[in-house]
Amino acid sequence: MNTNLKGKHFLSTDYWTKQELDTAFEVAFDLKKKFALEEPTRYLRDKTLFMLFFEQSTRTRNSMEAGMTQLGGHAHDLTPDKIQLSHGETAKDTAIILSRMGHGIASRNCFYGIGKDYLAEMAEHSRKPVMSLQDDVYHPFQGMADLMTIFEYFGKNPKGLKVTVSWAYADTHSKPLSVPQTQALLFPRYGINLTIAHPKEFPLSQNIIEKAKQNAEKGGGSIRFTNDMDEGFEGAHIVIPKNWGGFGAYGVQEYLDNEEECKKEMSVNLEKYHSWICDNRRIKLADKGVKLMHALPADRNHEVTDEVIDNPDISIVFDEAENRLHTAKAIMALTM
Ligand code: CP
Repeated sequence: MNTNLKGKHFLSTDYWTKQELDTAFEVAFDLKKKFALEEPTRYLRDKTLFMLFFEQSTRTRNSMEAGMTQLGGHAHDLTPDKIQLSHGETAKDTAIILSRMGHGIASRNCFYGIGKDYLAEMAEHSRKPVMSLQDDVYHPFQGMADLMTIFEYFGKNPKGLKVTVSWAYADTHSKPLSVPQTQALLFPRYGINLTIAHPKEFPLSQNIIEKAKQNAEKGGGSIRFTNDMDEGFEGAHIVIPKNWGGFGAYGVQEYLDNEEECKKEMSVNLEKYHSWICDNRRIKLADKGVKLMHALPADRNHEVTDEVIDNPDISIVFDEAENRLHTAKAIMALTM
C-alpha cells in the first residue's frame, strides 16, 4: 500500500501507479462502509477545497462538496464569473493565490485543446494538490468510480472481464472524449478486455489509443476497436453506451484553427448515427448477466432506452454515480 500521497496532483489516473490507485480504492471502500454506518470521517478537519467549474455538473460538483463536508472541511463552489478569471486573470496567478488560502484546488475545464493544459498550468504553480474534475482529455474521478463499481459487481480481480464502451447517439451537447479515454487507459491496467465501438468519424485521440495499448500490454488486459455497435456488444459482461464528440478526428491545432468548420462537420456526421442506441435487442447480444454502466447524465432514448436503463437486473448506473462520492473522498483524504 502506498500511502505517501499528500500533495500529489490528481490530473489523470494514468499519472498514478497501480499501487497508488489500489490505495485509493481501499480507502474508498472503507469510506463507503463508514458512510453507511454513519461513522465520522473528519480526516480533512478545517481544510478548504477551491472548486472551479467552467461547465455544469451534478455528480462531480456534489460529490466533491458533500465529500468535503463529510471529511470535516469545506468546498468553495466557484465559477469564472464569480472570480477575476472573467477579467482575464491567469491560471497561474489564480492557482498561486488559491493554494495560499486553502488546501486543494479542483477544476473542470473541458474546452478541446485547452482544458488539460489549463489544469497542468494550475498544478505547476499551486502549492497544494490540483485535481481534474474533467477536462478535454481525462476524467479521472469518473474512472475511479467506474472501476470501484466493477469491483463491487465482478470482484476485485476483473482479469478477463469483457467490457464494451460504445459510442451512442445523443442530441444534447458535444460531449468531451474524457470519459471513454479514461476508461481506455484505466480498465486494461486491471486485466480487463476492453472493446471500444464507434462510428469511423468518432475515434478517440490517437495518442490516447497508443498509450491505452501500452497499458493493456503491461496490465494483462487488452483493447480492440470496432466500427460496428452490434459486434461490440457480443458477449460483453458490461456495456457502457455513451456519446462523445468527433474531436478525435482532428489534431488539437487543426481543430483550434478551424473550430467552426470542425463543429459543423461533427454535427453533420452525428446525424448519420441515430441507430447507435443501447436497446433490448442489443442487450440480448451481450452476456446473459450483462450490466449497464453510464457516467450520466444519460441522454435517455438516444444513448440508451428507458427500458434498459430502468431495468434493475441490468442497470447499475446509480451505484456508479454514488461511488463518485466515495472515490472523491478517498482521493481528497489521501492528497489534501
Ligand atoms: N459523470 C459526470 O461527470 O457527471 P456531471 O457532469 O454531472 O458531474
